[in-house]
Amino acid sequence: MSDTKVYRVQPAWKKDALIDNDTYQKWYADSVKDPDKFWGKHGKRIDWFKPYTKVKNASFGGNVSIKWFEDGVTNVSYNCIDRHLKKRGNQTAIIWEGDNPYDDRKITYNELYEHVCRMANVLKKHGVKRGDRVTIYMPMIPEAAYAMLACTRIGAVHSVVFGGFSPDALAGRIVDCESTFVITADEGLRGGRTIPLKENTDKAIDIAARNNVTVKNVLVVRRTAGKIAWFDKRDLWYHDEAASVKPDCKPAEMKAEDPLFILYTSGSTGKPKGVLHTTGGYLVYASMTHQYVFDYHDGDIYWCTADVGWVTGHSYILYGPLANGATTLMFEGVPNYPSPSRFWDVVDKHKVNIFYTAPTAIRALMGAGDEWVKKSSRKSLRVMGSVGEPINPEAWEWYFNVVGEKKVPIVDTWWQTENGGILISPLPGATDLKPGSATRPFFGVVPQIVDNDGEVIEGTGSGNLCITEPWPGMMRTVYGDHQRFIETYFATYKGKYFTGDGCRRDEDGYYWITGRVDDVINVSGHRMGTAEVESALVSHDKVSEAAVVGYPHDIKGQGIYSYVTLMAGVDATEDLRTELIAHVRKEIGPIASPDKIQFAPGLPKTRSGKIMRRILRKIAEDDFGALGDTSTLADPAVVDDLIEHRQNKK
Ligand code: PRX
Repeated sequence: MSDTKVYRVQPAWKKDALIDNDTYQKWYADSVKDPDKFWGKHGKRIDWFKPYTKVKNASFGGNVSIKWFEDGVTNVSYNCIDRHLKKRGNQTAIIWEGDNPYDDRKITYNELYEHVCRMANVLKKHGVKRGDRVTIYMPMIPEAAYAMLACTRIGAVHSVVFGGFSPDALAGRIVDCESTFVITADEGLRGGRTIPLKENTDKAIDIAARNNVTVKNVLVVRRTAGKIAWFDKRDLWYHDEAASVKPDCKPAEMKAEDPLFILYTSGSTGKPKGVLHTTGGYLVYASMTHQYVFDYHDGDIYWCTADVGWVTGHSYILYGPLANGATTLMFEGVPNYPSPSRFWDVVDKHKVNIFYTAPTAIRALMGAGDEWVKKSSRKSLRVMGSVGEPINPEAWEWYFNVVGEKKVPIVDTWWQTENGGILISPLPGATDLKPGSATRPFFGVVPQIVDNDGEVIEGTGSGNLCITEPWPGMMRTVYGDHQRFIETYFATYKGKYFTGDGCRRDEDGYYWITGRVDDVINVSGHRMGTAEVESALVSHDKVSEAAVVGYPHDIKGQGIYSYVTLMAGVDATEDLRTELIAHVRKEIGPIASPDKIQFAPGLPKTRSGKIMRRILRKIAEDDFGALGDTSTLADPAVVDDLIEHRQNKK
């Protein structure tokens, strides 16, 4: 839209920037014209034990095979630690800021080396080998980083499960990748409240055992010293084990395409998928995007507020920044504890230069009022980022005007778990900003917009967002199910990677992500399959059928609206509503709690029995004047009842 506000690159942003607009244009053109040459050059940004001779060997057609730098040999932990020791052994690698504002710690690269080597030796001592899957279910403490890096050091494949997931969800992820070693903590601590991680792990291991996967060891980090159950043959204290092994561990020689990690993510159907990332291409892409998107300079203090349980935490708390020798801040707490000034207090305390957070946090802090921001100086801030969901222009403007005081560029970074790193984003010294637009593709990324029939939309227009060319950081497969990988991402529009997002391109070639076009909802930046929440609801013995849709929510971006049909004879009571919410929390975790439950005697179905979600979405949005064509419904009267009992009346 031509009336959109544009914020031009300010002279100060350009002054020492790594990339200006001319360089962006040139590099982008080169990256698309000759990817082998471009990535052949930039692949050298990491150290290789054996250099690659082949750069790209990838195709989105047929069986979909993606390989980058395939004959190169390297190690991720070596690149994130060892190679920096000579120059910056005494530089802080990780600043840890605890939930309690008086609790913090700094870990130098030398110290990181020793912690990671010890953790790696503990894993080895207990029989973890190259290729084995290790599940990490941890709070935001430095040991989570040690655990991940230790896996990469010995070639084990980590699967980090967000600490907010329930025992059932954890068990599902342990079983899917047949992981027999779990690393956890006694308890987590967030916003002054404890999270029973070890207790959840114990429950998950029992569930996994009933599904034929036996966890042999649990390595437990002491965080709170709270009371936990202990199983002598299985459980190991991290502090005892780490003291019993050597402080050096040779990094394993890994091929570029050896698996690095699995991260489970939700899709529109079935259970969460194990997204598999591999070694070389991922690290090249994570480190390169970290450097250029955030205009990272040596010596910058960099803070990404994500949790290591999500891909943002993998690529932009750990791997990207550490590969670049950065000082990365890891925060255990939440934005509003002990007060809504917390983020800005931390920025001032540690003189943070680059700050990366999510729209949901920005909206919540905006709602708390400007005075919480204005108490702080924020003078150190040079670049601010946003990720996880579309940022509405009001929140963008507040971030820019109030937090950044009109002086700090915002990079609205669009990407996905599957992508490994940022695909569409401004570069601070190069890109004029438009609030709400992720702007332009990163080097080597070729977006394409197609309509529902797959026809390519050129120039300005809206449709479904695909990526037509492979990039080094992308996922290689769904763990254990390559067919599902092909069907999920490459079958809708043959030979193209389909993102599941809707998108508009404006007259400047800027991309505006409009949100998911499939049955995935995005709640506070957490991605959720409606099918997962539905299956949690119907697993309750009083529920016969459920349909879940998203609706606009002021803080969370989207809220979860559930339509529930009860078994015959069951009364629809408030108590049952509470019970169902608790049931979903138990099955998946608190992040999946339904915001609204509407008891529905019937759901709108076509004559062939398909639920018409379009209608359910409209009713959830309280926009039932625009229900569209309902003539194909088997029983149109159902709709009147749903409208009458809707839970979101404005
Ligand atoms: O819908 C897009 C939204 O988040 C989805 C990916 O979620 P996940 O795999 O959990 O990764 C989140 C962090 C990388 C996308 O399909 N999304 C992410 N970033 C943005 C976004 N939507 C709009 N603008 C963004 N900047």
